[in-house]
Amino acid sequence: MTETNTKSHISPPCILVIFGAAGDLTKRKLVPALYNLRKNDLLPDNFAIIGVARAEMDTAEFRSRLRDEMKEFATEKVEPEVWDWIEQRLSYLSGDFDDEQTFTHLKDALEKLDRERDTSGNYCFYLATAPQYFAPVIQKLGAAGLTKEGKDRWRRVIIEKPFGSDLKSAQKLNRDIKRVLKEDQIYRIDHYLGKETVQNILVFRFGNGIFEPIWNRRYIECVQITAAEKVGVEQRGGYYEQAGALRDMVPNHLLQLVTLTAMEPPVSFDAHAVRDEQAKVLHAAQCPSPAEAAQRTVRGQYDAGVIGGEAVPAYRSEPNVAPDSSVETFVALKILIDNWRWSDVPFYLRTGKRLAARDTEIAIKFRSAPFMLFRDTEVNQLSGNRLVLHIQPDEGISLSFGAKVPGPILNIGAVNMNFDYEDYFGDVPSTGYERLLHDCMMGDATLFQRADQVEAGWAVVAPIQEAWANGPPPDFPNYEAGAWGPKEADELLARDGHSWDETHDIRGQNRLR
Ligand code: BG6
Repeated sequence: MTETNTKSHISPPCILVIFGAAGDLTKRKLVPALYNLRKNDLLPDNFAIIGVARAEMDTAEFRSRLRDEMKEFATEKVEPEVWDWIEQRLSYLSGDFDDEQTFTHLKDALEKLDRERDTSGNYCFYLATAPQYFAPVIQKLGAAGLTKEGKDRWRRVIIEKPFGSDLKSAQKLNRDIKRVLKEDQIYRIDHYLGKETVQNILVFRFGNGIFEPIWNRRYIECVQITAAEKVGVEQRGGYYEQAGALRDMVPNHLLQLVTLTAMEPPVSFDAHAVRDEQAKVLHAAQCPSPAEAAQRTVRGQYDAGVIGGEAVPAYRSEPNVAPDSSVETFVALKILIDNWRWSDVPFYLRTGKRLAARDTEIAIKFRSAPFMLFRDTEVNQLSGNRLVLHIQPDEGISLSFGAKVPGPILNIGAVNMNFDYEDYFGDVPSTGYERLLHDCMMGDATLFQRADQVEAGWAVVAPIQEAWANGPPPDFPNYEAGAWGPKEADELLARDGHSWDETHDIRGQNRLR
């Protein structure tokens, strides 16, 4: 980036207030992301950060804790001058989120810092708290007069997930926070949208002319989206027992991938234009009856097993998990989008913990050639063309197609054309939160969720939630850790004559075990 370019992207003066500043997200992602932003000259000199949490400590201790934690969580070696710049701007306020006094103290602290740092009265509040505090904190910020915008002064609130636990609770949360904030002050975060490769889906589709003509039901047979994790629930058993794989991953992360893959070209790259098109996809998703929803969905829970040669326990033996838990750690589902572009093209989604590999990818399977010219050759082994958008861990795009195997006999083999992000652009250290924090400070909400999108996402999973709540209890555990989920997930696709695309790394190597 040229100097002029960088300068024009420096965010405006502001104070960032992090609620939940003693928690994991702050040390693992937010502070390392702020460090990276500063290192790339994207933060203004007139900038400050206030951490708010219940833990008793003073600013000196807060700074020294984060300094130590940066050794572990920074995305690259910490440069002392850059860190000093951040550290001088860090302060801490201890207080209960239920206590009005916390907000009076915060107001005083903000006014003082605003004068000292000349931050123009711009405040960004980041709610990295447990979800039950989202509405009360916003209500108290409002009551303290901290959300009121002025002619040249903005007030914005970033809200982490989970945004509700079903359609009703998401609607209520939206209602509650909109009593205090206007929609354009609310930045509902989905960290998947901070991933380079997820942002690249839009560039790939709409920055190139060659894909759009074939991006429809005429050429595409099905779309498969996998977000597989090798890890179990780790220390988050308490949260996961309330959430499960469906709530944890589908209405947010996986539906983001669906909307970016399926949306129509927006009229511009403006936040409303892009989000209008994303929301339309969700509104077009077929709303099955609970009985149909049950048929189009598979859930699983991991049993003990072996991953990478290491024995791992069953979900029911994880800390803070009930020994007879019926919470799913895996879900596979089929979504149909009723519009002209996608009618009858199934979107298959699967996600789970303790699977065979860590891999997030979108595989677009194209229809076979209309006529088999090479039928007397070994073409049976050839599958249709496949375009894979690799989201993580290797980031890139690969396209598979048939090619003649060299030799006097006509043989056809499947080959891959690969684009590997790292090969082209080198390794750019990132937490995934840099872009999102920066966008919020710049006032660009394109990569954040609007109220209607969040609600439309919950509406898509509502029939599944209803079917599961009223159906017979699942027979768990039903897959071994280290497998690709229960066998019913394969049957879900087999019924339509499909099979899951084996996940591959960017070089086309099979990821199985
Ligand atoms: C979070 C979920 O939102 O996303 C976690 O709560 C999940 O359960 C995580 O592990 C996956 O994110 P990433 O960036 O590691 O793929």
